[in-house]
Amino acid sequence: MTGRTAITARMTARSDLRASLRDIRGEVRYDEPLARFTSMKIGGPADALVIPADEADLREALLAARAARVPVMVLGGTNVVVRDGGVAGVVLRLSGLKAIRPAGTHRLYAEAGGPFPTLAHAAKDAGLSGLEFACGIPGTVGGAVVMNAGTRDGEIADVIESLRLMTFEGDIEEIPASQLGFAYRESHLPPGVLVGCTVVLRPDDPAAIEGRMQAILEYRRETQPLHLPNAGCVFKNPPGQSAGRLIDELGLKGYRIGGVQVSERHANFMVNVGGGTAKDLTALIRHVGGRVERERGVTLEMEVRLVGRG
Ligand code: EPU
Repeated sequence: MTGRTAITARMTARSDLRASLRDIRGEVRYDEPLARFTSMKIGGPADALVIPADEADLREALLAARAARVPVMVLGGTNVVVRDGGVAGVVLRLSGLKAIRPAGTHRLYAEAGGPFPTLAHAAKDAGLSGLEFACGIPGTVGGAVVMNAGTRDGEIADVIESLRLMTFEGDIEEIPASQLGFAYRESHLPPGVLVGCTVVLRPDDPAAIEGRMQAILEYRRETQPLHLPNAGCVFKNPPGQSAGRLIDELGLKGYRIGGVQVSERHANFMVNVGGGTAKDLTALIRHVGGRVERERGVTLEMEVRLVGRG
């Protein structure tokens, strides 16, 4: 394809997409910078950012993307870094799907787009224990499930009973936890968009749950750079070791490339100290990962996911 033909093809695809998305009841924004929707405050624009009003609207968006033959991605925004060139096709924010409701004995159903800590507080208020670890984890319920978010106090796979998923064709499937392939910071969900999950918890005294949550929050406040834009831990902990300690021992705290710096407080966090770009971040990840590999013989695996065009 010549340059001009490629541009014409792209413009046609965009006008097809606009036509397909015209019935969305939620929000649709074109060429929307994603930096404001990510915790790292980094990221180029989405061709179309869609915030569906509810599940039926989500179906509409998925069918529209299918009709326009463009890719679809869900953006939780926390454990993910959007590259500077932005994201092609439809980016979904599920902030319209955030209900939490009782779902039988010791169970709650949570839609995917609500904040994960809100689910932890709802469980505490209902006198249900098992999600205390979630109280300081930023991000959405859906993001937490996909990443199997957790700490040494627990992970979401411990309490998930089943998921509700919408296929890219718009059909709903209920999937039991046993089929989700959960591992450390990892899951294997079938293709589609996660719309909610049922968690099964244990009854306990809300005051006791609250006490444990406060202790977890306090530890986070003391050890993590919560005051600066970050994407959580950048690397997974290698088996039996701490990525943060390994990086710290190499004296890399405070090391900076452009606007992104290895946190002075916790070496497995990289923080945007102002004007940081995805290019800065990936260069810093390579530098830090390279030094740990060369000097400690440990290959660090990334926990943060990079998406979009370079
Ligand atoms: N450490 C250092 N220097 C550092 C950071 C840590 O020496 O700069 C040492 C600590 O002193 C401690 C050990 O390393 O002895 C472990 O540190 P920490 O307790 O902070 O836990 P972590 O393993 O680094 C994990 C999770 C965090 C979670 C915390 C708190 C991973 C990759 N990280 O961090 O999760 O918040 O425990 O429970 O599993 C995330 O996944 O995004 C995340 C932030």
